[in-house]
Amino acid sequence: MNLKKSGFSTRAIHSGEKSSENGPMITPIYQTAPFTFKDAAHGARLMSGKEKGYVYSRGLNPTTEVFEEKIADLEGGEAALSQASGMAAISAAILTSVKAGDHIITDEVLYGGTYDLFVDLAKFGVKVSFVDTSELNSVENAILPQTKLVFLETPANPTMKLTDIKAVSDIAHEKGAQVVVDNTYMTPYFQQPLSLGADVVVHSATKYLNGHGDTIGGVIVGSSEFISAARHTAKNIGGALSPFNAWLITRGMKTLAVRMDKHNSNALEVARFLEGHDRVARVIYPGLSNFPQKVLAGKQMKGNGGMIALVLKKTSDVPLFLNALKLCTLAVSLGETATLVQHPATMTHAVIPVEKRLRYGIVDELVRISVGLEDADDIISDVDKALEP
Ligand SMILES: Cc1ncc(COP(=O)(O)O)c(C=O)c1O
Repeated sequence: MNLKKSGFSTRAIHSGEKSSENGPMITPIYQTAPFTFKDAAHGARLMSGKEKGYVYSRGLNPTTEVFEEKIADLEGGEAALSQASGMAAISAAILTSVKAGDHIITDEVLYGGTYDLFVDLAKFGVKVSFVDTSELNSVENAILPQTKLVFLETPANPTMKLTDIKAVSDIAHEKGAQVVVDNTYMTPYFQQPLSLGADVVVHSATKYLNGHGDTIGGVIVGSSEFISAARHTAKNIGGALSPFNAWLITRGMKTLAVRMDKHNSNALEVARFLEGHDRVARVIYPGLSNFPQKVLAGKQMKGNGGMIALVLKKTSDVPLFLNALKLCTLAVSLGETATLVQHPATMTHAVIPVEKRLRYGIVDELVRISVGLEDADDIISDVDKALEP
């Protein structure tokens, strides 16, 4: 079926599926390590890459392939490579792009694991500059002759700071560098970095793509050329996504649009309630009229997502609030059916040295809320009670 002109949800449901007449409607879980060869010559052709086919599930598997084709279509990329986690996808994308002596520019505000990975890259002779990528001058000034990659997270986890994907891509491309965007927070339903000029998209598929909090996964989307190079790199590193996890993520993606709409409307209601609360200093959510980068949000995002940065007035209120929540769950991760609340300073971003963390705006009073799919009134009532003095 040609889905080229179909809408987002139609493609989320049908794209990449391998159903055949009187066969299973849903692509089965091909829970196998190797695939058989027809004969010796066939095996040799597949192993040499002269013919495409299934050899071994660390490289290619029909179930993971459905996920890859679906996300490539939804992100508007030529191809995709699934990986065992978001961090495996990010590492594989970086290792595909740079070598010792190269230079990377990234933002100061990133998921803690990604930040830590960039710090570790010094061990391999790759220099990383952490700058405020929302300031285009900072990106321009940081570019060196060795700059090969600009890595962005927008909105950034956990402060919700945005970076102008198109403007940064223009700057990077002029200097011959590629742009990789972590699109975990928005998903292709709300933001399509490749259409804005980025070269590569990465996801923690653990989050909204899967959407149900029951598996870990990651993916890279880009040109066929980039994905084929990444497939080579990743095959040797070995972080393949399991077929079962790929099947769960594929199933989750079929409802991505309806889930994202509900995350979006719930988050707006929760954010509006919180901004009027007298124990709250600030609510950072792109759907609120006081969001500092409202114009940029309107330019590159089709929705505001389900993530809220809540800044309480007093640090001592943070544990009281977290411990008093009854419906909302105190846990890291994000983008699933349940509302998850956590404290970046002591949890997801604890790895960042404190003086840097505070400078980047990841203050001790900041609480991250991943607004789930429960009824908004119930989330608000729980949050309200937990904020009671
Ligand atoms: C924005 C973002 N990118 C990447 C990751 C890493 O993903 P994973 O936990 O699937 O390895 C996370 C994890 O929280 C994240 O929030």
